[in-house]
Amino acid sequence: MTDHLTIVDHPLVQHKLSIMRNKETSTASFRQLLREISHLLAYEVTRELPMTDVRIETPLMAMDAPMIEGKKLALVSILRAGNGLLDGILELIPAARVGFIGLYRDEETLQPVEYYNKLPANLGDRVTIVVDPMLATGNSSAAAIDMVKAAGAKDIRFLCLLAAPEGVARMKEAHPDVPVVTAALDEKLNEKGYIVPGLGDAGDRMFGTK
Ligand code: URA
Repeated sequence: MTDHLTIVDHPLVQHKLSIMRNKETSTASFRQLLREISHLLAYEVTRELPMTDVRIETPLMAMDAPMIEGKKLALVSILRAGNGLLDGILELIPAARVGFIGLYRDEETLQPVEYYNKLPANLGDRVTIVVDPMLATGNSSAAAIDMVKAAGAKDIRFLCLLAAPEGVARMKEAHPDVPVVTAALDEKLNEKGYIVPGLGDAGDRMFGTK
């Protein structure tokens, strides 16, 4: 991918996102819509995967058929909201390897601190897609990318549902080599670090917590 930021402005994505933003939307609908939208976002984030021709036999004749090149993709979910995107993408890419990164925010330094890090082997040979629905300040996303790079990943993409300009700028500064794909770029962060207009807390909305 060449552009640093791709906004997936497809009508289906935008329609589903608008229902997700509505505060009246139930937990069950929110979860289902996130699953559906994750398929469409996965389609976009994998658009430029390298391909190779593989010799196969159809029932009629031999042909060189295009297949995705190289080792299976790696999907890395930033806990816990990343799991909502992850589940849908795995329906489309069931053979992907999966990693998890857990970060919490130190209340004094306000910096992300790692509490969980379990990543697939051979990340250097895989296209790695890091997923988190909300790119807000970008601090935890940038830290998660640091962690996958430390594990050897080189070809990395970041997939989210909503982004704030502050988060996109932070990612561009910290990881200019990592393209960001999102369904929408919202106006700004509010004083509590929420994306506005946004959709609220993505984890709470998908898991029904407060
Ligand atoms: N995380 C969320 O879940 N929502 C926001 O608006 C910002 C960060």
